[in-house]
Amino acid sequence: MEYTRLGSTGLQVSPICLGTWRFGMEHEESGVIETDRQEAHELLDALAERGGNFIDTANGYGGGRSETWIGEWLDDRDREDFVIASKCYWSQVSRFQENLSKKNVKAEVEGSLERLGTDYLDILYCHRFDGETPPKHTLRALDDLVSQGMVHYVGISTCEAWELTKALWEADVHNYEAFSVTQPQYSAAYREPVAEYLDVCADQDLAVCPYSPLHGGFLTGKYERVGDGEVKTPDGSRGDITEHFEDWYLTADTWDVLDEVRAVADEVEATPAQVSLRWLMDHERFTCVPIIGARTVEQLDENLGAIEVSLSDDQFERIDDAMDT
Ligand SMILES: NC(=O)c1ccc[n+]([C@@H]2O[C@H](COP(=O)([O-])OP(=O)(O)OC[C@H]3O[C@@H](n4cnc5c(N)ncnc54)[C@H](OP(=O)(O)O)[C@@H]3O)[C@@H](O)[C@H]2O)c1
Repeated sequence: MEYTRLGSTGLQVSPICLGTWRFGMEHEESGVIETDRQEAHELLDALAERGGNFIDTANGYGGGRSETWIGEWLDDRDREDFVIASKCYWSQVSRFQENLSKKNVKAEVEGSLERLGTDYLDILYCHRFDGETPPKHTLRALDDLVSQGMVHYVGISTCEAWELTKALWEADVHNYEAFSVTQPQYSAAYREPVAEYLDVCADQDLAVCPYSPLHGGFLTGKYERVGDGEVKTPDGSRGDITEHFEDWYLTADTWDVLDEVRAVADEVEATPAQVSLRWLMDHERFTCVPIIGARTVEQLDENLGAIEVSLSDDQFERIDDAMDT
């Protein structure tokens, strides 16, 4: 596998990152764990066997199970062979501590390190801004963690373009470690809400690791329109077991994109999932490393196959043009 330098960081990562959001995720009604411990370890084994080295998790995924299971899996491995990103947010050590207060951020990272069984995170993202803590306090806390070696690079996930710009400015004027990696929701089927955010990333040389790069599985082509606005959803898929899937993911625009992705996939003898991921990796404005969510080793292998696919400029642009942004 050829590795990619992650933007302005000193990290070399596989061109695709494995996301672990669904590790240990318990579905409320059925109580079913979406990806259990054994399945999680099989996915991580497969990733490592194929040469993948980049893993994305968060303090809260599966109520901490995602980090714990990754940590257990890492026990038999060399930590230095992997680039591990986690996130802080959605958890308060005290009701008097905002999510991104100095104390909370430090406590969250200590918890992540303990669950992961490691003494550093390669990347720590703020999952969101909390809207209360002035960013300079959060940035100061992140800067301390970097100075102490607990975190090597810092990043931000979902936020407004102006918030990202302001945080970069604050880091600059206070001489704090600045965000160098970003994690927006972004895919061929989800663009307009992040267009300005991505302009900032391109301008400031921030690496982009898009989440939901297959639009929750929609861009695999496994959902079908069956007249009257009805959608045929495969049994057990995210669309089947998750509320609001259709409202969130399926709009007239997204079907147009899927049609074009399918047409290109036929031309290059690849699958729609592979073409959608390749389209992301081919971005030239910034380093773009999609974070895939795979439920099975078969899905993981299909998605990693995107690394071998190549698109012509014309095919890239046709997908680009399939959605009015
Ligand atoms: N920062 C944030 O706020 C945030 C938010 C969301 C996610 N993330 C990160 O991004 C990662 C990926 O997000 P995501 O899971 O939404 O990504 P995604 O790649 O858009 O969707 C993944 C889902 O699509 C289906 N799928 C994937 N590959 C497939 C294939 N080859 N064939 C058929 N179905 C396939 C699977 O669901 P089914 O089999 O169940 O249909 C899988 O769970 C997460 O694990 C997490 O690390 C971050």
